Amino acid sequence: MLLFLLPLISSLVLPTSSLTQEGLYLQHIKHSLDDPDSALSDWNDQDDTPCSWTGVTCDNASHVVRSIDLSSANLAGPFPSLLCRLPNLTFISLYNNSINSTLPADLSTCHTLQHLDLSQNLLTGALPATLPDLPNLTYLDLTGNNFSGEIPDSFGRFQKLEVLSLVYNLLDSALPPFLGNISTLKMLNLSYNPFFPGPIPPELGNLTNLQVLWLTACNLVGEIPHSLGRLNKLTDLDLAINDLHGPIPASLTDLTSVVQIELYNNSLTGGLPPGMSKLTKLRLLDASMNRLSGPIPDDLCQLELESLNLYQNSFEGTLPVSIADSPNLYELRLFQNKLSGELPQNLGKNSPLKWIDLSDNQFSGSIPATLCEKGAMEEMLMINNAFSGEIPASLGECQSLTRVRLGHNRLSGEVPVGFWGLPHVYLLELADNQLSGPIAKTIAGAANLSVLLIAKNKFSGSIPEEIGWVENLMEFLGNDNKLSGALPENIVNLRQLGMLDLHNNELSGELPRETQSWVKLNQLNLANNQLSGKIPSGVGNLSVLNYLDLSGNRLSGQVPVGLQNMKLNVFNLSNNHLSGELPPLFAKEIYRNSFLGNPGLCGDLDGLCESRAEAKSQGYIWLLRCIFILAGLVFVVGVVWFYFKYKTFKKANRAIDKSKWTLMSFHKLGFSEYEILDCLDEDNVIGSGASGKVYKVVLSNGEAVAVKKLWRGKVKECESDDVEKGWVQDDGFEAEVDTLGKIRHKNIVKLWCCCTARDCKLLVYEYMPNGSLGDLLHSSKSGLLDWPTRFKIALDAADGLSYLHHDCVPAIVHRDVKSNNILLDGDFGARVADFGVAKVVDASGKGAKSMSVIAGSCGYIAPEYAYTLRVNEKSDIYSFGVVILELVTGKLPVDPEFGEKDLVKWVCTTLDQKGVDHVIDPKLDSCYKEEVCKVLNIGLLCTSPLPINRPSMRRVVKLLQEAGTEKHPQIGKKEGKLSPYYYEDASEHGSVA
Ligand SMILES: *[C@@H]1O[C@H](CO)[C@@H](O)[C@H](O)[C@H]1NC(C)=O
Ligand SMILES: *[C@@H]1O[C@H](CO)[C@@H](O)[C@H](O)[C@H]1NC(C)=O
Repeated sequence: MLLFLLPLISSLVLPTSSLTQEGLYLQHIKHSLDDPDSALSDWNDQDDTPCSWTGVTCDNASHVVRSIDLSSANLAGPFPSLLCRLPNLTFISLYNNSINSTLPADLSTCHTLQHLDLSQNLLTGALPATLPDLPNLTYLDLTGNNFSGEIPDSFGRFQKLEVLSLVYNLLDSALPPFLGNISTLKMLNLSYNPFFPGPIPPELGNLTNLQVLWLTACNLVGEIPHSLGRLNKLTDLDLAINDLHGPIPASLTDLTSVVQIELYNNSLTGGLPPGMSKLTKLRLLDASMNRLSGPIPDDLCQLELESLNLYQNSFEGTLPVSIADSPNLYELRLFQNKLSGELPQNLGKNSPLKWIDLSDNQFSGSIPATLCEKGAMEEMLMINNAFSGEIPASLGECQSLTRVRLGHNRLSGEVPVGFWGLPHVYLLELADNQLSGPIAKTIAGAANLSVLLIAKNKFSGSIPEEIGWVENLMEFLGNDNKLSGALPENIVNLRQLGMLDLHNNELSGELPRETQSWVKLNQLNLANNQLSGKIPSGVGNLSVLNYLDLSGNRLSGQVPVGLQNMKLNVFNLSNNHLSGELPPLFAKEIYRNSFLGNPGLCGDLDGLCESRAEAKSQGYIWLLRCIFILAGLVFVVGVVWFYFKYKTFKKANRAIDKSKWTLMSFHKLGFSEYEILDCLDEDNVIGSGASGKVYKVVLSNGEAVAVKKLWRGKVKECESDDVEKGWVQDDGFEAEVDTLGKIRHKNIVKLWCCCTARDCKLLVYEYMPNGSLGDLLHSSKSGLLDWPTRFKIALDAADGLSYLHHDCVPAIVHRDVKSNNILLDGDFGARVADFGVAKVVDASGKGAKSMSVIAGSCGYIAPEYAYTLRVNEKSDIYSFGVVILELVTGKLPVDPEFGEKDLVKWVCTTLDQKGVDHVIDPKLDSCYKEEVCKVLNIGLLCTSPLPINRPSMRRVVKLLQEAGTEKHPQIGKKEGKLSPYYYEDASEHGSVA
């Protein structure tokens, strides 16, 4: 009805316009869409026809609109059905917009439509069953929407459809057989839908015009039907990432047009079918990650393959010699099979090989010298085989190489001189071979080298000075070789170096002194060499070092006191010639093994300093014990005497009149208020804020509580950083305390009860043995807070605040979130405390009305507070963000170190100028860096200057949980298409100690 009236309405509204009827329809469409980028700004009513408008194409002669192409125009809103009013429209593309809601059924009135592209939009609901009513439709692309449910039965009735693409939707019925009826189809793309598990319908073999069949990740099970062999026009067959079983049918060798076959990531068994030489057009075969076995057939290698991926199967036997004749082969990935024998010795002579990965097989013999003959080789991955002989000299000239992994083979002889200095190589792994000779000076040319792994070989000679030029070097693992001489002076120039492991060599001379540039050094292992001289005190300044092993050398002199400041996971100075007194912090049992075998080293540890004769010390020890016992006795007697004296003194002086107290309790109490009053002595004070003192009171039942004593009208003014003024003067005290007392949440400190007298109020809380987060984090004990603990504290506190904001009715704004108000129980579980200035937000949202005093503490106050003087949940979230930043950086919210800035600004500028490593607390173990960074980002989000950009507390909890669960992300596999050796971190391969 409305549609019918529209032309009428528009002619009333725009009586002077000479725009054609089609133009008027398009005007309406323009107004029905949200167009933030003004993509349709030239759709104006001054023109006579719409033919010159953006995205509109007309018939030259008749000026009727033929096509509407508004792809990537950032338009939003439902599909404009009015388009179907254009009587001669054949083409619609709204690709990559935000077209939302469901696709209307009256789309079927677009009778003339041939091409409909609505891919990459936000369409939802069912696929309209009426689409096949479009008699001329040849192209239908609905990729990348949220269509759900089944493919309607009617889809079997398309008359002229050539392309049907429903990739990346939420279709969840089984793949229907009637698709086999659309005999005109050339392309059927259904990949990445959560279809109900089912087989490939054999009927698809009827689609003899089909050129592309793309069924990746469609939950397909069962066997590949033989009928697919009838698709003799097929160029692309993609059945990857399903759960297909059984053999690859021999009929697939009838696909004589096929260029590309993707079968990876299924459970296919058996061998590659014979007769593949019939597939003369085949360029790419990927059958990786199946359970295929048998030999790689020789006739496969007679094809002009470009890419052959058969990794992670059980192929066995040798590689056919003919593969070396493949003129176009650039990618050969056969890792993790059971292939053996020698490689064809002219491999690479005729092929522009670029990526070759033969790792984890049983290949033997020498590496073909021709591998890089075409100068294209970038990745040469051959670890875990039995290759022997020398690395061919020709590879020393292979300038294109970027990644070389030849570890865990039986290679021997000297490494070609040029091989050390290839300019684009960033990973050179030769570990665990029998290579010998020196590290060549040409290494100076390895401008991109960042990981050098040459451990467990027979390399000898001294490490060349030129190593100091490899300025991108991050890891140098050369342990278990015969390297000798002194460490080159300029190895200390390597600013990126994170790991230096040269243990079990024959290095001599002294340790380098000027190590200031080793700002990233995390692991230093020089154990079992012949190093001598003193341990330079500079070692203590390597701020991110957490692995230090210098054992088994000839180091002498004292243990530098500076080492005490380091946070080391591994620390070993044993079996050296160190002497003198042990620095006091090391005099602990856990450090004993770090110092054993240094005969001259003395400290109060068993096994150290054996030379201090036992007999001599025996006498002293007796004398010392006597003196100690005597002193102890005197002390105990004194204390007892003092206690009795003091108690009588106090009783006489107690002035509080118990009868004047009124009690308000929120929990079943195991104590009386009088018991508490009795214990409020100055010697029980554990803290003191602007509003009162806090006492720890141990009750007769053994339980401890914390009592906060507030004095009416005696509130101090803002004490620089502690602006804690609040309801002490407020008459709503009781009402609010009542609300707070009813809160029960594991992450909120429990308020047991509240006692009031004329001039004094007492709040009795549960006692938190580990004090406040602020105290702990910013004290010398911050070492107790490792990252997992800090993360849990953040999550706990977020949980508590989320409860206040979202689960309390009415919602409660804390108003003074800060690390000092997050208390820690015995297990470092965190609880939010001190609603000193908390206000209940009433439903009308006017919660801030009574706030005439400043809320919050310096450094935690959200920026908008300066001009709005209003506090709401978003200000709490800002303050909580500051707490997160404190946890990540270990720094105070305001610190003279930051100059004018506060912590938030400091983090932002430091991140920009120096990078994340300068922001994260150096005391945190670097292995958590990824998670720390995620949490840092959450902190930054919470401290967004604009309140609207801050996530809600509930969202913060969610974000934190997500950051915590991704501790071991599965890197290295993008849709299972890439070799694990490609991304794999060297340490995963056992080549790192
Ligand atoms: C569709 O997009 C329009 C324009 O942005 C928006 O106003 C509307 O709420 C959206 N509808 C749905 C169902 O998301
Ligand atoms: C446009 O469509 C109308 C109605 O179907 C038809 O009469 C007319 O001939 C068509 N015009 C052109 C140029 O195709």
